[in-house]
Amino acid sequence: MKNYIIHSEWQVIEEGFNPGYNRISESLFSIGNGHTGQRANFEETYSGDSLKGNYMAGVYYPDKTRVGWWKNGYPEYFAKILNAANWIGLRIRLDEEELDLATAEVEDFSRVLDMRTALLTRTFKAQLPSGKKIEVKAERFLSIAEKEVGAIRYSLKSVNFDGTLSLCSFIDGDIANEDSNYDEKFWMETEKDVAPDKAFLCMETKKTSFFVCHGIETHLYHNGEKVKAARQPYSDEKFVANNFELGVSAGDEVVIEKYMAVNSSLYQSRQKLMLHVKVKLGEAVAAGFDKLFDAHSEKWEKRWETADIMVKGDAAAQQGIRFNIFQLMQTYSGDDERLNVGPKGFTGEKYGGVTYWDTEAYCLPFFMATAPQLVAKNLLLYRHKHLQKAIENAQKLGFSDGAALYPMVTINGEECHNEWEITFEEIHRNGAIAYAIYNYINYTGDKNYLAPFGFEVLLGISRFWAQRINWSEDKNAYVMLGVTGPNEYENNVNNNFHTSRMAVWTLKYTLEVIDYLTKEHPYLYSELTRKWSFNEQSETALWREIIDNMYFPYDKKREIFLQQDGFLDKEIIPAADLDPAERPIHQNWSWDRILRSCYIKQADTLQSFYWFRHDFDKETLRRHFDFYEPITVHESSLSSCIHAILAARIGREEKAYEMYLRTARLDLDDYNNDTEDGLHITSMGGTWLAFVETFGGMDVKDGQLLLNPFLPKSWDAFAFRINFRGAHLEIRMGSELKITNHSAVAVDVVIWGEQHQLKENGELVLASKSVPQ
Ligand code: BGC
Repeated sequence: MKNYIIHSEWQVIEEGFNPGYNRISESLFSIGNGHTGQRANFEETYSGDSLKGNYMAGVYYPDKTRVGWWKNGYPEYFAKILNAANWIGLRIRLDEEELDLATAEVEDFSRVLDMRTALLTRTFKAQLPSGKKIEVKAERFLSIAEKEVGAIRYSLKSVNFDGTLSLCSFIDGDIANEDSNYDEKFWMETEKDVAPDKAFLCMETKKTSFFVCHGIETHLYHNGEKVKAARQPYSDEKFVANNFELGVSAGDEVVIEKYMAVNSSLYQSRQKLMLHVKVKLGEAVAAGFDKLFDAHSEKWEKRWETADIMVKGDAAAQQGIRFNIFQLMQTYSGDDERLNVGPKGFTGEKYGGVTYWDTEAYCLPFFMATAPQLVAKNLLLYRHKHLQKAIENAQKLGFSDGAALYPMVTINGEECHNEWEITFEEIHRNGAIAYAIYNYINYTGDKNYLAPFGFEVLLGISRFWAQRINWSEDKNAYVMLGVTGPNEYENNVNNNFHTSRMAVWTLKYTLEVIDYLTKEHPYLYSELTRKWSFNEQSETALWREIIDNMYFPYDKKREIFLQQDGFLDKEIIPAADLDPAERPIHQNWSWDRILRSCYIKQADTLQSFYWFRHDFDKETLRRHFDFYEPITVHESSLSSCIHAILAARIGREEKAYEMYLRTARLDLDDYNNDTEDGLHITSMGGTWLAFVETFGGMDVKDGQLLLNPFLPKSWDAFAFRINFRGAHLEIRMGSELKITNHSAVAVDVVIWGEQHQLKENGELVLASKSVPQ
């Protein structure tokens, strides 16, 4: 755990330069606009340790998998969103001596990421080895108003230097992914164009043939006067640059403005790409840095209006939640149903930037409640678009008749990962994808989604479950063998409670949906049954059989469902008894030891208790929580959010708060010692959930909004906002509970078990409660 980020309500601040933390800070200070994003690398040369990272949503490469013994059905490739051209580069030389913070003496260094406006600012004083001193202030943003545009303003003051300053402003396309399986480079140059103060570089990805074109234009001002690019532009393979040279004296100020435009063949034809980028760049330059920034920050203000969460009286908690919300909004804007939320977003290479069950399980609720409805719908449509591929995935594994198995890891619908047990056997993700459909409809009331989209996906998944289970003569019940639950510290287990529960739940829900469609959309439904050759009678008869006869491992003595068959054969020793030096166990223990141990990586049985809260009473939840939580090591970033919510549901305020802080400040404080790889973007959706469901006690049952807020002892007040069925509500909990309806739509809300009506543009004030109810 680290503690170097300064607590502040709206900013992420680092003071003092610590090269040892550079990769962590590069992740933390990342910026993005849903289409492109980058780590907080320095503009000027840095020869110290750094992961240069620039990523374009949807632009990926299928990197051939590395496995020892190849078996049928293994994924062919591990897809990765490619590390793309680095456009921020400014090489600065003072009389041929290069500015490089790894060799200079650095003073007054600070990095600030303003979350209100998504502006990254860096200031420092540097003394070069020869004694030349300068002061720098660098500002940078990626516009959310103009998604193809980014800009840098880099102001440099000479403290004692008289001589020649030369500047090379470049785009470097010779980029490799650090995690490439075979140390290959994935980009080829296709086209470039250079003029004295602008340069364009177009590249193509190998195999997938995505075309990406970057353009830059650089302006230089010397004590306020514009300086012409004096030298010839430069280009080399995968590299274009503009060069400037000027004489400066001590006290002089040099301001560099660098504008960038980028687009890809996802949105423009290859032939028109460079021309399009030229036009966009021209428009950006004509607007200028300040105007571009104003439009960008206005848009951010609008986003915060519906998504902000306020905490009064605890700056660490406040910064934590805003940081999570901010990064989620930087990662996904929901305007393109081909895009999704990668576990690391645009902040690193781990997990390939591709899609996991994380999106449905942890991120969907945030977008559902804080963004226009289409944003959440686009996340669901992403999976609908992949349905055919999911059917093919299932076929590869031996399933038939329209059974669909969604991949654990994907970018285009195909399974693409290096790890066998995780890829194939974590089939619980199919349940999460089905659950997301229910969750979306329960929250938004948009039942139209069911035909055709929701039903088609549910049918494919239900067919899969019906084929994946088998009848056990011995148990006289249906069983599900050879799976991996969300707890990846167990592989290839039989009868994982959570997976079996998800299967039974999907079958039941699909039956409900069929019932609804038969009654409300009979014509459409009969079209769909024809399209999918769905034999309702015989297929649903089997589903009902399974629902009634599924086996769930249960311990009568403890009155708990077991995570899987044989779980109690393990030695049950609380995680608190582990030697702290051996944690996290995945970095210190052998895989063999981990698999045999009782330790649970993240909510598994408890994930079902989280999703199906209305099926279990509090006492049953308490028994399960008290058995499983003490042996959970929370080594997945997705763990603590679920445990925070469950702890609150059984009235464990302290545990809920501890778990909440852990998820909210996971990256800011580097809890898991891995922020350097990138931020845990999908777990940030979990943090939002943990906030509104732990402290807000928010729930939606049968379309009815429920709130059960409590104010943690260490806070003075908190407030969050949600869109709910056309209304926009602000829930503020302090010395009293005040709910304001900022919309012309009235809503019914059950608060602490009592029914209330919130009139259009109305307000409701109730006495506060300080413990979870
Ligand atoms: C978790 C998975 C998750 C993946 C990507 C793993 O560590 O165990 O549940 O899908 O990370 O975030």
